[in-house]
Amino acid sequence: MMGVIQTTKLRAKAPVNPAQLPRERLLELPLGQILDGDCVEAMRALPTASVDLVFADPPYNLQLGGDLNRPDGSHVDAVTDHWDQFASFAFYDEFTRDWLTEAKRVLKPDGGLWVIGSYHNIYRVGAILQDLGFWILNDIVWRKSNPMPNFRGTRFTNAHETLLWCSQGEKAKYHFNYRAMKTLNDELQMRSDWVLPICNGAERLKEGGHKVHPTQKPESLLYRVLLSTTERGDVVLDPFFGTGTTGAVAKRLGRQWIGCEREDGYRDAAYKRIAKELALDESALTTMQAGRAAPKVAFGALVENGFIKPGSQLFDSKRRWTATVRADGSLAVGKQTGSIHGLGKELQGAPSCNGWTFWHYENGGEIKPIDAARQLYLLAVED
Ligand SMILES: C[S@@+](CC[C@H](N)C(=O)[O-])C[C@H]1O[C@@H](n2cnc3c(N)ncnc32)[C@H](O)[C@@H]1O
Repeated sequence: MMGVIQTTKLRAKAPVNPAQLPRERLLELPLGQILDGDCVEAMRALPTASVDLVFADPPYNLQLGGDLNRPDGSHVDAVTDHWDQFASFAFYDEFTRDWLTEAKRVLKPDGGLWVIGSYHNIYRVGAILQDLGFWILNDIVWRKSNPMPNFRGTRFTNAHETLLWCSQGEKAKYHFNYRAMKTLNDELQMRSDWVLPICNGAERLKEGGHKVHPTQKPESLLYRVLLSTTERGDVVLDPFFGTGTTGAVAKRLGRQWIGCEREDGYRDAAYKRIAKELALDESALTTMQAGRAAPKVAFGALVENGFIKPGSQLFDSKRRWTATVRADGSLAVGKQTGSIHGLGKELQGAPSCNGWTFWHYENGGEIKPIDAARQLYLLAVED
């Protein structure tokens, strides 16, 4: 794994015995390809210990009985497809064991596995992956900011899904970009509850006004998964590729991808979608810095040390708001007060704000973000 981002590595697990490998396995990884047919068979053709991450969004086995309508009578596009149907829990468990066994084999000893599911399947999947030796590192709750209502009004609204993040075993190494996640979360440790919208708007693939796929996942979810547990150049395998959300985000973030998908229509849609995706250039990716490159500095330290004077004024780049700096490093705009991050967030009505780049100051006739003052401060204290 290439490393610009701080990583956490724990101890390694013994590699798989190469003498047990079937002879017909591919010598080279089918990077950027969607393998046709059943994913268990497709994965059997892949070399052992060859991929860095598996992200799996398997059938949920929803067991929906009959059609679902909204109160106005319109039809809900629920998951009623044949690929989500299993004759019994026993069949579902057998299938789960089969694909997880192959996923474990193709993963590198320090590789990571993510599985997303709902209450219908995630407990069964969790038990089976533990039986196979995977070690659960976190269960992430994806809280949907805009869930579909419970149209029948018979139960609570299902407003979340669960993602299990696992290493190859209790003592296996794994990869975690702790620092990048903290940066993404405005300098607060990233928590295990992620509030993200479901996939809709322009991102949702449609044909003739209908969804191409009933369970297309939001790109923001994959963005966080890939950014947190892979590096540029890493190989990500998605055995249930669907519309290729994993491939599209992997391409954007400079990761390599392999998919498995048995439905022709989904494979076509995924290839088209990924072809349109643009990869971020290297400079955009390298801005996500390791902890040591971006030490934590409280804004108050700049005020205390005279780099930004109490009583001086800060403003946003468009000069919509002008704030007065107070002695304790807080800011005031009229009656509104707060930290550089908190007040910036409040004024914009945004979910978060990086105050270092949002607020600006004037220095010798030049307008600069306060991050420039932070750099000067760091240079001074490092000397
Ligand atoms: C829950 S959906 C994945 C959706 C995907 N994450 C996305 O964002 O579009 C599961 C997909 O797995 C495919 N699938 C189900 N069983 C499969 C199997 N045994 N082998 C390969 N693909 C399978 C289905 O056709 C479906 O597209």
